[in-house]
Amino acid sequence: MTDVDGNTFLDFTSGIGVVNAGHTPEVVVEAIRAQAENLLHLCALVGTYEPYVAVAERLNALIPISGKKKSYLANTGAEAVETAIKMARAYTGRPAIIAYEGAYHGRTLLTMSLTSKYALFKKSFGPFAPEIYRVPYPYAYRANEGEDAEACSRRCFADLERALVAHVDPAAVAAIIIEPMQGEGGFIPAPFSYLRKLRELCTKHGIVLIADEVQSGFCRTGRWFAFEHSGIEPDLVVTAKSIAAGLPLAAVTGRAEILDAPHVGGVGSTYGGNPLACAAALQAITFMESANLNNRAEQIGEIMMGRFQTWKARFPLIGDVRGLGAMLALEFISGPNDRTPNTVVPLKVVEEAYKRGLMLIRAGLYSNCVRTLVPLTITDEELDEGLNVLEAAIAAVAG
Ligand SMILES: Cc1ncc(COP(=O)(O)O)c(C=O)c1O
Repeated sequence: MTDVDGNTFLDFTSGIGVVNAGHTPEVVVEAIRAQAENLLHLCALVGTYEPYVAVAERLNALIPISGKKKSYLANTGAEAVETAIKMARAYTGRPAIIAYEGAYHGRTLLTMSLTSKYALFKKSFGPFAPEIYRVPYPYAYRANEGEDAEACSRRCFADLERALVAHVDPAAVAAIIIEPMQGEGGFIPAPFSYLRKLRELCTKHGIVLIADEVQSGFCRTGRWFAFEHSGIEPDLVVTAKSIAAGLPLAAVTGRAEILDAPHVGGVGSTYGGNPLACAAALQAITFMESANLNNRAEQIGEIMMGRFQTWKARFPLIGDVRGLGAMLALEFISGPNDRTPNTVVPLKVVEEAYKRGLMLIRAGLYSNCVRTLVPLTITDEELDEGLNVLEAAIAAVAG
């Protein structure tokens, strides 16, 4: 990126996970141009047009859920999450939703209600939507004293089971919505064993399992979707962000009977699945596939994690380094033996990095993490340059 003064920057944010396929990939830009001359708008409620159908078919083929599948297209991640909830409620005839501490699902009333991290996302915006029950996310670094990752995961699952006795009847729960790799919450992968037990629990109680892959999807973690690492099949998968390389598009994909549950005309929007965004998505997905960006995400992740490990050994204020594929974070603490979240240093690191030409953002329930979402088209040289800048920024602030 070059700013108005001619300063150049490397982008380690991908516009918050939107340009996994890089900025302005030529094939995508060309497809948008061609589509613009053909059809700009029809509205999927008015008539069926080919790019919408093609994207739905592409997603149905891409997302590993067995049986008959369907996809519904929306404009934003929040809109798609809301629609997934509406579908789950219509399908089950139940009202309640279970969501997680640290979750981020959007900023509309229902998705803000599902979202955690009160002070940043919810303060002064209530009252919130009812029938939402919150349980702890298996966050190994913030386990209770004496717990290892496995014990933390077991305890969190027990908390979920207890919530189904203490707070809400499982027969009243329409859906459990989880980010298999928590994004805003601090880039925390849910243990695969936890996700497998969650799948069993949802099946046992007839609860719709919704995977929110808005930030973690489309090659970011080295798989098309983060839930694939665990081998589970969610009932519904919500995608957005990198699906269309920068144009507003989102989707709900999953079991056909759930997508078909709302009455005709019950879900829809004017612009959802806009032809330009669909044309972009088709080429973006083809590009990600042909460039093998899953493989590249793994490589990038290995290079970055190698550097992060050395920084953890060098800088006492880095408490944890973690991630999956190229979705990585550094968590800052208050001292070598003090895991209290450090809410000051990460902001200074981000500011220092900007001054040195690197775009970065924070994450974490306590805003004490620095997250990295490099475009997966980055070269090794650019990656190395960016990592050198980040290391220098950390050394300047926390060395
Ligand atoms: C996991 C997750 N879900 C939902 C959303 C909301 O998406 P949007 O901003 O497109 O509404 C986001 C956005 O960051 C997200 O990270």
